Parts: sequence; C-alpha cells; structure tokens
Amino acid sequence: MPVPLIDLGRQHEPLMNEIRDAFERIVKNSAFILGEEVERFEQALARYAGTKYAIGVTSGTDALLMALMALDIGPGDEVITSPFTFFATAGSISRVGAKPVFIDINPRTYNLQWEMIEGAITEKTKAIMPVHLFGLSAQMDKITEIAEKHGLKVIEDAAQALGARFGDKMVGSMGDVGCYSFYPTKNLAAMGDAGALVTNDGELACRLRCIRVHGMDRADHFPEVGGNFRLDAFKAAVLALKLPHLDTYCTQRRAHADRYGQQLEALPIGTPFEAETRYHVYNQYTVRVHGGAREPLGHHLSACGIGNRVYYSIPLHLQPCYQHLGQGRGSLPNAEEAADEVLSIPVFPEMTHDEQEKVIAAIREFGQAE
Ligand SMILES: Cc1ncc(COP(=O)(O)O)c(C=O)c1O
Repeated sequence: MPVPLIDLGRQHEPLMNEIRDAFERIVKNSAFILGEEVERFEQALARYAGTKYAIGVTSGTDALLMALMALDIGPGDEVITSPFTFFATAGSISRVGAKPVFIDINPRTYNLQWEMIEGAITEKTKAIMPVHLFGLSAQMDKITEIAEKHGLKVIEDAAQALGARFGDKMVGSMGDVGCYSFYPTKNLAAMGDAGALVTNDGELACRLRCIRVHGMDRADHFPEVGGNFRLDAFKAAVLALKLPHLDTYCTQRRAHADRYGQQLEALPIGTPFEAETRYHVYNQYTVRVHGGAREPLGHHLSACGIGNRVYYSIPLHLQPCYQHLGQGRGSLPNAEEAADEVLSIPVFPEMTHDEQEKVIAAIREFGQAE
C-alpha cells in the first residue's frame, strides 16, 4: 500500500453531501462569481483570522500581488523577503515593478532571519514580506517592531499557514495585510485555485475590493487599474463548509508531527523547529538530511511507495530570473544549505497510524543502511 504525500479524496468523502448541496444551490441560482457565497466565506474567514476584513480572491499569488498594488509599491521600491519560499512570494514583488531584496533564513525555522532585516533596509525599502513557511509563523514581534521603527509596511505571506499562530495571534493578522492560499495542497484546500487577503484597515480593504474588479469603485468608474481577481462562488462555498474543520485538520497534522518527532529522534536527521509560543500547523513536515543523503533517502522512500518532495531545491536568489540582482551562490548560505538538505514527507490529516508506521519504518531502514 503506497502512502501518498497528500490524499484530498479522504478529506472530501465525509463532506460529499454538503459539497453536492452547495453545487446544486449554486447551479440553481446561477450566481457563479462573488456574491453571497463569497461574502459568507469572507465573514467566516475574518472571524477565524481575528481581523476586521477578509477579501476572497483568485489565488494566493494574486493576493500577494493585490496587497503590493494596494500599498502603492512599484518601480523603484524594494521589498525585503525570504529566498527560501515558493516563487510567488518574490514573483509578485517583481510583477509590480519593485525589487525583491533577499535576506538569509534562520536555519532552524526556515523563516526570515529577522536579525538581518535592518541591515538590508535602504531609503528605497517600502515593505517587509515575511513568509510563514511550512506552517510555522515567522518571528512576527520583531518583524513588526522593525517595520514600525522604519515606517515600513508588513505583508504577511501566510499562504502555507492559515491556522498557525504567533503567541495568540493568527498568522496574517499581525501585519498591514495577510495573504492566504487555498491551493489544494494547503491546510484549507479549495477545489481549484483560490486565495484571500485579511486586514484590519478599512480603507485598504475597500481598495482591495476595487482592485479585485479591475479597479472599479462604482458602476463603470475606474479610479485605478486593477484586474480580474474575483473568487468563484462554488470555491467559496466549499471553503466555507471546510473552514469549521480546519482546526481539526491542523490538530491531526500536529499529532502526526509529534509522533514523527518522537520516532525519528534517534536518527541523524533534523526534525522541524518547535516552540510553545508558535502554534505550527505543519502544512509540510520537512526533515533535514545532511551529508548528501537527501536524494538517496528520497529515492528510498519513493521505492517504498512513500510520497516525498523537496520544497524547495533552488533558493530564489539563484533562480535564472534573479541573476541580475547579483546575490550569487554563497551570499545566503542558510537558504542554500536548506535547499540541498530538506525533504518533505507525508503529514496530511487523514494519514492512518499504519501509514505513518510505514513511513517511519522506511526512514529507519534507510538510517540503518547508511
Ligand atoms: C509561500 C507561498 N506563497 C505564495 C503561494 C501562492 O499561492 P497560490 O498557489 O494560491 O497562487 C504559495 C502556494 O502555492 C506559497 O506556498
């Protein structure tokens, strides 16, 4: 029996009646885009995130792009961010014409090394974009403190981390604006692409809602150029019916992570950073394999039928499209080392005890053969 990296079928099975009801309701009233279904989801999401406003959009990538647009970040501006993340983080900065300034990561948390932020600030810096990678919050107290001191905006890339907290605060709710992704591999998984922004700033929320519909503030009136970033009703309806289960999904992921932590402790592989003050929601369970053993371990797991994947094998400052920034190999060593050594293994909520046993046994077997 193979163990997949994720199996959404198992999550949807018990929800099938509700999903069918939502589908029939939306087909009957033919309101396919935005409207009541989206508003209902937005209200529930804002409550969950602990923010005043939530804006449902087409994807996490578009949420980041819209956040930058709404904060007037563009050509000539710099945004400090992580090189060890999904491409969309930096890609969105480039797409508004601004420059991503990559600083190194903390090798234990894989998040921005906040101590390096101040050294990267110039008169062009407009914002900091921390990423809560793999479901673990970045050091938000320090990041918001630095931003405040220097008059910078904070755009949280919380694409992977809805449900995670720093202290008692939800990721996404601590900066000026937070961005979530509901891509199907995320903890709250849509049926297709979807995303959202959250904020406590009423003016910003209003502007984001205009940007979502091409920049239109009232019928046929366009104070600025936006785009088509509208969320579909069916996707919103499914997200709304799954949101009440998100805490359970996260608890299940955390239970798997606990077990991995105990069972893998004796092996020479690194397990994720844990801290009581940072509620980790394990969008990925990412181990660290030193000494060039990452590829062989990945192959071994694949041979045993166990899903595994490297997130991310090339840090963003080394991507061909960012060579012009001049941050060459060796400039961000923690990110580069992480890219050579990380491996993500199954941690999806519905994974059974037997399946996890199989993963653990395969890793142990590899450890003994090494
Ligand atoms: C850290 C990070 N940022 C941004 C995104 C973009 O989200 P989406 O795929 O919904 O566009 C993702 C997810 O894929 C992500 O993991």
